Order: sequence, then C-alpha cells, then structure tokens
Amino acid sequence: MATSAPTTGRALETAAPLTFPAGFLWGTATAAYQIEGAAQDDGRTPSIWDVYSRTPGKVRNGDTGDIATDHYHRWREDIEIMAGLGVGAYRFSVSWSRVQPGGRGPASAKGLDFYRELADGLLDKGIRPVVTLYHWDLPQELEDAGGWPERDTAHRFAEYAGLVADALGDRVGTWTTLNEPWCSAFLGYGSGVHAPGRTDPADALRAAHHLNLGHGLAVRALRERLPATAQVSVTLNLHHVRPLTDSPADTDAARRIDGIANRVFTGPMLEGAYPADVLADTASVTDWSFVHDGDTELIHQPLDFLGVNYYSPTLVSHHTGPAAHRSDGHGVSEHSPWPGADEVAFHQTPGERTAMGWTIDPEGLYELLLRVQREHPGLPMMITENGAAFDDYAGPDGEVRDPERIAYLRAHLAAAHRAIEAGADVRGYFLWSLLDNFEWSYGYGKRFGMVYVDYATQRRIPKSSAHWYGRLTRSGTLHP
Ligand code: NOJ
Repeated sequence: MATSAPTTGRALETAAPLTFPAGFLWGTATAAYQIEGAAQDDGRTPSIWDVYSRTPGKVRNGDTGDIATDHYHRWREDIEIMAGLGVGAYRFSVSWSRVQPGGRGPASAKGLDFYRELADGLLDKGIRPVVTLYHWDLPQELEDAGGWPERDTAHRFAEYAGLVADALGDRVGTWTTLNEPWCSAFLGYGSGVHAPGRTDPADALRAAHHLNLGHGLAVRALRERLPATAQVSVTLNLHHVRPLTDSPADTDAARRIDGIANRVFTGPMLEGAYPADVLADTASVTDWSFVHDGDTELIHQPLDFLGVNYYSPTLVSHHTGPAAHRSDGHGVSEHSPWPGADEVAFHQTPGERTAMGWTIDPEGLYELLLRVQREHPGLPMMITENGAAFDDYAGPDGEVRDPERIAYLRAHLAAAHRAIEAGADVRGYFLWSLLDNFEWSYGYGKRFGMVYVDYATQRRIPKSSAHWYGRLTRSGTLHP
C-alpha cells in the first residue's frame, strides 16, 4: 500500500528529454460501443448499453451509441489518421452482439468480416491490432438470462472468445479478455451507474466472480486456438488507493478498498485465490458459495502481460455515522459500488482536475506501476489506457488547441518513464482515446479524444495533442 503524500503533475514535469526503451509500443485505444455506431446494422442485436442508454435518466442528455462516431462506416479514415500520427498499435474492442447476435449460437459472418477488414487495414499500415474481447457490452439476451451474476455467462463468454479467435487468430497477435471488470461488476450491478443498472451488492460480487471465471475460460479458449506467439492479457483499472492519514483506521479503509477494487481480481487471476481479507470484509453481503471447487485454478491462467488503465488515484478514510458522501469519481448513485465498505469515505485528492473532476496525479501512476512490478515480478505491463477529458472546442480557425491534455500526457509519460527506470517492466502505452466518443453515463459531453469529433458532421479534427503525440511516437523521446 502506497502511503506517500500526493503530489501534483507539476512536480513531475520533465527537465531533460526522456527516451523510452527500444521497441516500446506507442498506441491508442477505443471501444466498440463508444465509437462504432451502426447499432442495428448487419444483424447486430442490442447490448446492455443499447438498452440502458435508451432508458430515460440513465445517460446525460439521453445520448446513446446508435451513431457514436460512425466508425463502423468511417474506419478507413480513422486508420489513415492513426497512420498519419505514426501510431504503432491500436487497441479496439469487438462488439459481442455484432459477431454473435444474441450472445449464443452461430457467428455472424458480416460481423466478423468487419473486424477482419479492420485488422487487415491496420496491418497494411504497419499498426499492430490489439483486440479487447469485452468492453462492457454484454448482449442483452444474456442479461435477460441473468447477466454476469449467472455462471452460464462465463461459459458463453468463453464460447464467444473462441469464435473470435477462430476468425481473427491468423492476423491478430495481441489479445485482452476483459476491460476493467471492476466497472462491469460494481458499477453495472452495484451502484447501477453503468449498464445494466442493477443495484444489488451480492449480485455485484457474483458478477465479479463470473467475470473472473469468464476470463480464465476465455484465456484457455484462446490458447487452444492461437499460435504460441500470441500475447494474451487482461486489462484492469487498478485503483491506486491512498489513506487520508496514516492512522490505523484510515490505513485499514485503504486496505479494504484495495481489496474490493484490485485484489478481488488480481488474487484469483494472478495468484489463484481470493484474498482472505476480501472474503472476510464481504461476509455480511455474501457467503461466496457461487465459487465452485476448481474455479480459482481455472481463473489463474498464465498471462503474457497485464494491461493497466490509470487516470487518477483514490483517497479514502475511515468513516462512522451516516453513509459517507461518495465522491469516488464513478458517478452519482444512492447505491454503493463498494460491497462491505460502508464505513469508508472517499475524498478528492488535492490538485488540478480534468473535466471529469478527476485529480491529475501522475505520481499515482508511478507508484502503481512499481507496486505491480513488486507484487508480480516477471509479469510485463502495458499501460492500456491513460488520458483525460477537457472541454475542447474548435476555434474560429478550425483548430482544436488542448494544451491541458498535452500537459497531462507528458506528466504521466514522465512518471511511466521514471517507473521504467526504477525497474517496472512497462512495454507500451495506449492513449485513451483516439477519438472523442460516447463516455458512458456522461454521453458525448466528455471529450477524451486526441482527435476532435464534430458530431453534427462526423468531421475529425486532430487536436494539438494528436500532433504532439505523433512527434512522440516517431521519436520515442519525450521532450520537456
Ligand atoms: C476506462 C474505460 O475503459 C473507457 O471505456 C472510458 O472511456 C475511460 N476509462 C474514461 O472514463
């Protein structure tokens, strides 16, 4: 557990040029529901996000992913943009209900063709395709059958993983099973601020276990089908949790949140067991009888790297009395996404913030990378997401200037570089995101892209950060 004092981005700004290791992968990332649109094209069936976003009051402004950035029709242009920026890898997700409508049964040839062509288009430009199998868009039919709290969903996920591997395994070499399963389980089934919007803490824990199981089964399905050279991983939004003070009560609050945010996934996935303190902390919520003999061994599959997503740290303290105000950065809900942690209060880390209200704290990334290195030596890492939303707009000259994003990226990359120098085995960095897109419950109001999207025309305008990132990907050197 890191306990050092929070520092702001400024403290980490670089004075000298920083050169990244040879072969460091410079990428960018997106997710299917956030960019594709074409929600009803070519036999795609609704996912939980289609249904949730059409439910009044769930997503700001009533936004949906029906059209999004229309990437389904504009992917060639988007690849050109990436090629122009010298990006070496592109992390995208596959829409389950596009390639296996309804979440079970035969594959959709048209759905798979879309991703085959996309992968080939990337390879033609020398961009490595990195596939995420699940970025939160469960086919609604599977949710109707119980969703992630049901064990069968894990088996359905493995079947789908096999089907995508059969179709893309000859051209995609880098695979990720799940993206941020914490959000799927605890925001989707706990606080309800993500699809499917359910609010039952026991279901959230069942969902976490079945996501873990789905991961293990999917890794097995991928290994059976992919060449031995394939790289298989999972992406976690590891929370960098700091206690407000070093009092025993605050330190214990941080341990508790670390358990339910991080170790509930890294325990079974990377060590083959649920941590005893997590089981004890959540004993009043569930007896964990949904964990069958052999499950944790199944979940514990060798991985080629760990994907780490980092945006901002989490500051907590012990709290007694009425339920604490939950400014934990994950949306507003009267329901907690933290089962078994009612006596924890969340605080805003001091410092500058992004348009999400998330504090800019690159030191958190540094500490997090070193922690993973320390606790899981021998497991390489990729930063599979890092980036920031700001209120970007096109100026009268048509340019989009985003110096705050450049400062954010520069400070976080400097922190990553410092972590590498201190021994963290970090192999690549994926900027979130290529394009402005559908930011889940926040809709299109939050812009994370290095490329601006004018949603009225779908015109793409590379922001100044995109030009900056292009210079970085080409030189591999971060200049002050
Ligand atoms: C993590 C998620 O994977 C991504 O979908 C989201 O847009 C970013 N964080 C920003 O919130």
